[in-house]
Formats: sequence, C-alpha cells, structure tokens
Amino acid sequence: MNKKILLTGGTGYIGSHAAVELSTRGYDVVLYDNLQNSSAAVVDQIELISNRKCEFIQGDIRDTALLSDTLSRLKINAVMHFAGLKAVAESIEEPLNYYSTNVLGTLSLLDAMLHAQVFNLVFSSSATVYGVPAYLPIDELHPTGPVNPYGRSKLHAERILSDLAVSSTNWSIISLRYFNPTGAHESGLLGERPTSRPNNLMPIISEVALNSRDRLQVFGDDYDTPDGTGVRDFIHVMDLAEGHRKALEYIGKEKGFEIFNLGTGAGYSVLEMVEAYKVASGQAIPVEIMTRRPGDVGACYADALKADTVLGWQAKRSLKDMCESSWRFYTNSSNRG
Ligand code: NAD
Ligand code: WQD
Repeated sequence: MNKKILLTGGTGYIGSHAAVELSTRGYDVVLYDNLQNSSAAVVDQIELISNRKCEFIQGDIRDTALLSDTLSRLKINAVMHFAGLKAVAESIEEPLNYYSTNVLGTLSLLDAMLHAQVFNLVFSSSATVYGVPAYLPIDELHPTGPVNPYGRSKLHAERILSDLAVSSTNWSIISLRYFNPTGAHESGLLGERPTSRPNNLMPIISEVALNSRDRLQVFGDDYDTPDGTGVRDFIHVMDLAEGHRKALEYIGKEKGFEIFNLGTGAGYSVLEMVEAYKVASGQAIPVEIMTRRPGDVGACYADALKADTVLGWQAKRSLKDMCESSWRFYTNSSNRG
C-alpha cells in the first residue's frame, strides 16, 4: 500500500529531502517539478544518497493533463504536494501569481488525482496560516488568520482539501503545517539551493558565513523575547522529511482530512541562531541591528503534541545538527554552482 509516491515540487528544498527519506525506506519516488526554483541536478543527489533510481518529470502543476497521465501511467498510490511559491514579500507584490500557483495549482492536482482515482494526499501547509499568535505554543486549534497573500493561498488550499474530504469517503488527506524548516541532509550532498534569492534567516546567515554577504541584518531587537530578537521554531529538514513518511503511513490506514503542526515545540532567537552557526562554521558572522521587518511577530513556536500522539512523530535533531548540516552542504565543493 502507498508504495509509489509522486512528489510535486520534488526537486525543491523540502521535497528533495522527503524524497531521500522515502526512497531509503523502500518507496518508489517520482518527482514532478517545473524547475522554477530548483535544478534537475538534485535528482542525481537524491539517487546518490538513497542508492536507488527515481523518476523525474518536468512539468507545471497547472498542467492537469500531464499530471493525470503521469498518475495513471506510473500507477501512483499517493501524492505529496510540495510545489508552490513561498516568499511572503513577493506574494504581496504578485498576489495573482501566488493564487495561481498555490490555489489553482492545487485544484489542478486534485482534478488530476480524481481523474486517475488517486485519493491519498499529503499537503505542504505553513504555520503562516495562523497569522499573529493569540497564544503560545500554537496548537492546531489556534484560530487561523493569515496576514499576507501567501498565507491566505495556503489557507484557501486547505479549505478546498477539507471540503473534498467531506465530498467522498475515498479521500485521505493530511495537511502539514511546517514551522521554520532549516538545515540539510547529513551527507552534505543535499540542502537548500534555491534559484531565487533566499529570504529566510538560515540561508542568509550561511551567505554571511561564506563571505558572499558582508553582514546579517537583524530585523528588530526590541521584541518581548529574552534577547529582544525574533524567536522561531526552527526544525531540521530531515525531521520534517520523517514527519512526511509518518503522515504517509497514516493516510494508508485512515480516511478524511487531518491537520498537523510539524515543529519542535522550542523557540530559538535570531541571535541564538547566529551564535550556533558561528560555532558550527568557525566563521565570523557580523550583524547589524535594524528596525523590525513589517509583518513580523516577536515569537512563534509550535505545540507539536498532536503529531506525536497520532502520527508517532517527534523532531529529534538539535540546533547544532541544523547548523552543522547546513555548513557541510554549503562548504561541500561538489555542491557549488
Ligand atoms: P522550494 O521553492 O525549494 O520548492 C518548491 C518547488 O516547487 C521548487 O522546486 C519549484 O521549482 C517548484 N514549483 C514552483 N511552482 C511550480 C509549478 N507551478 N509547477 C511545478 N513545480 C513548481 O520550497 P520549499 O521550501 O521546498 O517548500 C515546499 C513547500 O513547503 C511549499 O509549498 C511551501 O509553501 C511550503 N512551506 C515551506 C516552508 C519553508 O520555510 N521552506 C515553510 C512552510 C511551508
Ligand atoms: C525568521 C526570523 C526575522 C532574515 C517565513 C514565512 C513563513 C515560512 C517560514 C513558508 C524573523 C529574522 C530574517 C534576515 C532577520 N515559510 N530575520 N534577518 O518570517 O518566521 O517565516 O518563513 O511557509 O511563511 O513567513 O522566517 O526565516 O524569514 O525569519 O533578522 O535577514 O529571522 O525577522 O524574526 P519567518 P524567516
């Protein structure tokens, strides 16, 4: 059951790490990506680490016919839907692009799945759907209230999934709300290498450690947090990948629609991240304190108890693991380019 898995966005950061996790556990993985924020070279790295072949199909998730044909022809059992756009600031500038990719793209995938009679789905959602935290830690019952088009596009997609699961008992769908994914595969062969400029903290810190940026701008040191800088729930990307495998095992047994947070339950501040990365890399990481970034909150971290209780999943890797694996990836000369 659920042995052949299609990963949309499979050459991207999180999808590629999930592909390694699934492939090394004996699943056959098929990657589907239009390569707008990743490269086909990632396929070789996944095959190298897992020592198994994986199939790659270049295509857009809005190409329903290609998806439908792929699902039927390759006899796919379940889909993990990672493909999407994820930059908050860009989503404010280009909302139609975000709704087209994240909402219409999801609709297109669901149409294709219905046509091919594939009813098992794990969806990449985000803690962004919660908006400004009303309380901490954030559990799945926390009200949603996204404050930007990116977050709203994820919430629209979740609502479509929820309605679909009500429409027929065939569907088994899980939405995973990730907190702040960081780090890289332990091998140093796979990591975060977007083709667009990174926006998230950890890739920017790495650029400073690698001397391709002169300093990290710290957006605010006057939050109500222990050192005044923003606190987030950074989670190792391989822990996240394992969470996807657990979700897949769950949808193989249960029907309906369920939401799970994937986080560690602990928060680290921006300055704690900088310190940890300094130690892992042995490099200086100059910082400049700036004013707050519009739209940011002081602290955000998960209550991940539901994933533990229901899926039997817990994040295991430390902040040190996140920083060391990231540095190993960026300093591995075979990854340059
Ligand atoms: P990523 O950009 O590395 O991966 C996304 C992949 O989707 C890329 O390879 C890109 O080429 C592909 N893609 C984009 N539009 C496409 C389209 N129209 N058709 C086919 N492929 C397309 O991003 P990621 O960090 O791996 O994120 C994966 C998913 O997780 C996204 O849906 C994102 O919203 C979600 N998410 C990410 C984070 C994070 O901080 N990285 C946090 C929460 C949720
Ligand atoms: C983390 C902390 C910044 C960059 C975003 C999305 C969210 C999810 C994860 C997809 C904050 C500070 C950052 C910098 C800084 N993505 N920072 N200097 O904002 O928690 O979440 O990514 O779903 O939707 O909103 O992550 O990595 O951008 O920021 O000081 O150059 O680092 O202010 O406190 P964020 P982030």
